Amino acid sequence: MRVLTILGTRPDAIKLAPVVQALAAAPGVSSLLCVTGQHRRMLDQVLEVFGLVPDHDLHIMKPGQDLTHVTTAVLNGLGPVMDQARPDWVIVQGDTTTALAAALAAFYRHARVAHVEAGLRTGDILAPWPEEMNRRLIGQIAQLHFPPTEIAAANLRREGIAEGRILVTGNTVIDALHQVAARLDADPGQAARFARDFAWLDPARRLILVTGHRRESFDGGLARICRALVTLARRGDVQIVYPVHPNPRVREVAEAMLAQSPSIHLIPPQDYVPFVQLMRRAHLIVTDSGGVQEEAPGLGKPVLVTRDTTERPEAIAAGTALLVGTSEDVLVAAATRLLDDPAAHAAMAQARNPFGDGAAAGRIVARLLEQDAP
Ligand code: UD1
Ligand code: UDP
Repeated sequence: MRVLTILGTRPDAIKLAPVVQALAAAPGVSSLLCVTGQHRRMLDQVLEVFGLVPDHDLHIMKPGQDLTHVTTAVLNGLGPVMDQARPDWVIVQGDTTTALAAALAAFYRHARVAHVEAGLRTGDILAPWPEEMNRRLIGQIAQLHFPPTEIAAANLRREGIAEGRILVTGNTVIDALHQVAARLDADPGQAARFARDFAWLDPARRLILVTGHRRESFDGGLARICRALVTLARRGDVQIVYPVHPNPRVREVAEAMLAQSPSIHLIPPQDYVPFVQLMRRAHLIVTDSGGVQEEAPGLGKPVLVTRDTTERPEAIAAGTALLVGTSEDVLVAAATRLLDDPAAHAAMAQARNPFGDGAAAGRIVARLLEQDAP
């Protein structure tokens, strides 16, 4: 069985790393990895952490790229790769433009598509934009759908996907997280490295970890989040650490509004291992990231989600995530409550795992093999 895995961004890579590893270990599978390079440094960071070596690299990233560039460059680049690889299956993940364009390129070559992290929906095609449309379109193309949860599977059934083409697997991000957590637990040197690299962290102040990059926030939402962070930083008993996404639309706002605050530390995107260490160390997390919403419940960390909708209602239902939107006042009030009311914090800090058990990748590979068994 010839399998071509295609990924291009940081979250695609983190979530497909366990699948690529499982494919490499599966007998009878010839596994190829193509990276589009939709992200560059953030992608290469992940490839290195998980020891992934691409067979093809389309190198498409341009600073400030738009969606048309990403879509057309991936489509153009993948034609020859498909012709050479002649895959029985193409694996894509989630809802990035790399995933959509790769699914389309596979369809154009009559290759079957397996969709990892299928079935996430907000019901609003403009939020997240363009991801909600990307994942719906991939859902139309894919032959096999691997939703992480029963809620995601139900979304697919509602859209008419046949039961026999759906397998609930858990989210592979939990596989990736477990892998890194095991590495951290086994190697005390990692804690020493973190202590050295983050020696500037003040042990007396609680840590608020922040990420933010969604396109829907570019018209004011990100600026309101930044104003809320400035207000929170003035309390004096917290420190805010914000690994800033390199998108110029994000970087420019964050630097202009936050760089002057002494309690706010703007740092480059972190390798996955130190980022997991930062999540473990955090008192609370403020984010619009999908992956972080999935990881934080397992780590028992309260998450304030700076979006109006989420396709991950499991985290809200589990009580570890709260949807706060991008209103400055609402975010300040929610964070203040978690900082000042230990009972409110404790209620959100129960470790739960609604997104998976860490064994998703094995289920995915087993299902692919079963599908093509003679
Ligand atoms: C993309 C995905 C989004 C995902 C996010 C994860 C789409 C449409 N969006 O959004 O779903 O949540 O990745 O981070 O697929 N850049 C760098 N170096 C990097 C990565 C990005 O400099 O390693 C800068 C470049 O200027 C680039 C810009 O960020 O043009 C935007 O990158 P892009 O992949 O187009 O969008 P994201 O906002 O990262
Ligand atoms: N992440 C990381 N370094 C960082 C910030 C995030 O490794 O500095 C990880 C995070 O743990 C999660 C993934 O990147 O697994 C989320 O990626 P991102 O927020 O870029 O995309 P999204 O999940 O929103 O699609």
